[in-house]
Amino acid sequence: MPRIMLFTFARILTTRDSGVAVKQSIEMTVGELRADHRNMVLLLDLLDSETQRMAELSDADYELVREILSYMMEYSDVVHHPKEDLLYGYLKTRYADIDDSLEKIEADHAALAATTSKICGAIPAQPARSTAELQSLTSAMVAYSRELRNHMFWEEKTLFSLADETADDGGWATMLGGHDLPDDPLFGRKVRKRFRKLFNHIQRRMVWDVQQYFT
Ligand SMILES: [Fe+2]
Ligand SMILES: [Fe+2]
Repeated sequence: MPRIMLFTFARILTTRDSGVAVKQSIEMTVGELRADHRNMVLLLDLLDSETQRMAELSDADYELVREILSYMMEYSDVVHHPKEDLLYGYLKTRYADIDDSLEKIEADHAALAATTSKICGAIPAQPARSTAELQSLTSAMVAYSRELRNHMFWEEKTLFSLADETADDGGWATMLGGHDLPDDPLFGRKVRKRFRKLFNHIQRRMVWDVQQYFT
C-alpha cells in the first residue's frame, strides 16, 4: 500500500530563505493535509463497515474500531487538526476579508476531538451489550463518520482552496518553525505497534480490492 509520509519541518527550515521554496512548503503542507483526508476516509469506510456489523449484531471487530478511533485521537486530533488551525491562522494574516465561515474551524476541531474521545470510551471491551446501548453507540458512530466526512469536504472546498491561491510568504515557515509535530503512527515512516492490527487489516483489504478488480 502507498505509505503516506508526513512532511518534516526540517524541510521547511532548510527552504525558508526563498519565497518560492516557502510557497512550495505551503503546497506540501496542503498536499499532506489532503493525503491525511484520504487516509481518514479509508478509515471511516472501515469504521462504517464495523458499525454496520455491530448494528446487525454480527461479528464486529471491536478492537479494530478502538484502533481506528485511537488513531483519530492520536494523529488527527493532535497533528492534523492543529496543523489546519495553523494554516487558518496564517491565512487570516494574509486575507483581511477571509470567509467568515472559516471562523468555525477551530471550534469544529474541538468538537470532533471531544466526540472521538467520547465514542472511543464507549466502545465495550466485550461485544455483549443491550440492544439499547448498541443502538445508541452505533447511532453515535454513524453521526461521527458523517460529521467528519462533511468537515473534510468543507475544508477542501474552503481552507485548502484558499491556501492553494496563496503566493509566496516568508511568514509561513516562521510560524511553523516552533512546532514539532510527531510522525504519523499508522501511515508514516514506521507503523507503531499499537496500530499494527489496523495496518495489517488495511493491507489485506487493499489486496482483496486489487484481486476483485482483476477477477
Ligand atoms: Fe479539520
Ligand atoms: Fe482536515
